[in-house]
Amino acid sequence: MSVQNIDSVLQEERLFPPSSDFVQAAAINDAETLAALRRRAEEDYEGFWGDLARQELDWQTPFNNILDQSRAPHFRWFHDGRLNVSYNCLDRHLEARGDHPAIIFEGEQHDIKTLSYRELHAQVCRFANALKAQGIAKGDRVVIYMPMTPEAVVAMQACARIGAVHSVVFGGFSAESLKDRIEDAGARMLITADGGNRGGKIIPLKQAADKALAHGCPSIERVVVFKRTGHDVDFNAERDVWWHDAIDGMDSSCEPEWVEAEHPLFLLYTSGSTGKPKGIQHASGGYLLGAILTMKWVFDIKDDDIYWCTADVGWITGHTYVAYGPLAVGSTALIYEGAPTVPDSGRFWDICERHKVSVFYTAPTAIRALMKCGDDIPAKYDLSTLRLLGTVGEPINPEAWIWYHKVIGGERCPIVDTWWQTETGCNMIAPVPGVVATKPGSCTLPLPGVMADVVDDKGNSIREPNKGGYLVITKPWPSMLRTIWGDDERYVSTYWPKFDGKYYLAGDSARRDKDGYFWIMGRIDDVLNVSGHRLGTMEVESALVAHPRVAEAAVVGRPDEIKGEAIFAYVVLKGDRPEGGVDRALTKELRAWVAEQIGPIAKPDDIRYADNLPKTRSGKIMRRLLRSIAQGEEITQDTSTLENEGILLQLQGKA
Ligand code: WTA
Repeated sequence: MSVQNIDSVLQEERLFPPSSDFVQAAAINDAETLAALRRRAEEDYEGFWGDLARQELDWQTPFNNILDQSRAPHFRWFHDGRLNVSYNCLDRHLEARGDHPAIIFEGEQHDIKTLSYRELHAQVCRFANALKAQGIAKGDRVVIYMPMTPEAVVAMQACARIGAVHSVVFGGFSAESLKDRIEDAGARMLITADGGNRGGKIIPLKQAADKALAHGCPSIERVVVFKRTGHDVDFNAERDVWWHDAIDGMDSSCEPEWVEAEHPLFLLYTSGSTGKPKGIQHASGGYLLGAILTMKWVFDIKDDDIYWCTADVGWITGHTYVAYGPLAVGSTALIYEGAPTVPDSGRFWDICERHKVSVFYTAPTAIRALMKCGDDIPAKYDLSTLRLLGTVGEPINPEAWIWYHKVIGGERCPIVDTWWQTETGCNMIAPVPGVVATKPGSCTLPLPGVMADVVDDKGNSIREPNKGGYLVITKPWPSMLRTIWGDDERYVSTYWPKFDGKYYLAGDSARRDKDGYFWIMGRIDDVLNVSGHRLGTMEVESALVAHPRVAEAAVVGRPDEIKGEAIFAYVVLKGDRPEGGVDRALTKELRAWVAEQIGPIAKPDDIRYADNLPKTRSGKIMRRLLRSIAQGEEITQDTSTLENEGILLQLQGKA
């Protein structure tokens, strides 16, 4: 799709500099320090990253080679160095901060526990030894399908400790999605739980896992089951082992496996333009460096911070800013298991008050949903410990931004709007909050060392303010993805397709304003952003056409006040279209079907039945037309090529 003609109409002029209190306490708090970092990166790119990697990471074998570009776009960072990610997150803090809380956990039912660095280290070591005892070794893939509990982090860290490659699958994904990911990764082990608590209900994880394994996944040899809810589950004694039995008698120390910096740390599946999710593969050294630097630069993390990122470990945000980043810098990560509305929509603020949260990082969807509940709810809580707020996952609308700033932040806390992706590994465009004044809705400026640009169809940088183009990154960076698991060609063709493979193509369109601030305008591919979660329209389409009654389906997004984007599906049935285009029972069935195939987040919000889909002469579905209809816009496209103009009325729901 061309972005040539996208000019922005949204112009936000308000500027919010950080308060003097914030500036005074911030680690980077003067423009010159930040400018010097940027200058260093411009003048000596490799030296810049090399120094930081030496300074921020503990290496078992120091590296000599900073960046190897000889096989671009396959880049290697620090590749002759060896380290261990879990060592960098845990062991190195033991001496000075062994008793400092590493994780504060709150279950949905108010069960609370705190793990010090020493305790977390011991748990990780015991579980790492258990993994080894179960036959897991360096390079083996392990799928983790867990509720948001400290054990999910323990499982991830334990994999990292022994060099196993984890792939976390979000607990809200269905058995079918879990199966696809296990099979694609070729995982030998699945780590799951009997269930998790969410929204006052039990999420039956073990049941879904059993279903996934019943239909495939021949590579899985062992299933480790953590007992969380305690409800009855089926147990296959030959294949399954309880977590508590697996760690029984295991030693609480475990020598880390020293791996090459490029050793895969994890795979994380994310949606793209086709029906098949991509297994984004990250490396060890570069990824951790990005996590650490952004914890410092963007979150201005301090020794006594209570840092709460609300993302589930099933998403990249939960990897970088729950499981790795906060620990690597020795801070305290808060983990909450459940829904923001249990017992009522004050839960987040209640948690902030009780645990004295100082840095709070969440998604615009959550902010909008909580904003709807009214100001009197947060007003009941003491939010004065908050000093910095963050958002991620989708553009935040200025109204929600201002609410967040006033009602939650008491006009005292800078808001870091962080643009990044599963692929980028860590924040890329975001304010350094002690220096960069913010504007509601803008992720502001690229971080030091991040060479972001907005370019036109030919790859030329667009200098004209507010003119939209492709968001690209023009130099490799340490925390970048390394490939797509099992499909390297797709890695090359998806991310380096244009401009002779010189630029990383993010898949977003963006513009820069007169101050050079970046404004993300949305995806340029067929990827939806529903509640901050990526979903491919093709994935939902594939799920729909797998239903026995569906012949064809086209899925587009339409703006939604809370979710950012809602899912709108046009469906052609085998056989007749329902009378008047309405069949409530079938609609209900199809929504449940999609939830079963992918997960509840993928349920279409609207389903419209038509005799046909609008196609071009070459048979391509006219998605732009479908998008306009879904948004209730007037149709300006040329529809003269439609085989049957009558379907327009059906598509619009008027016939
Ligand atoms: C979108 C989430 C606007 C964008 C970390 C990107 C954003 C996709 C922002 C990646 C932001 C993320 N402002 N849009 N601050 N952050 N996005 O892989 O479209 O789940 O390409 O990573 O989310 O989603 P992903």
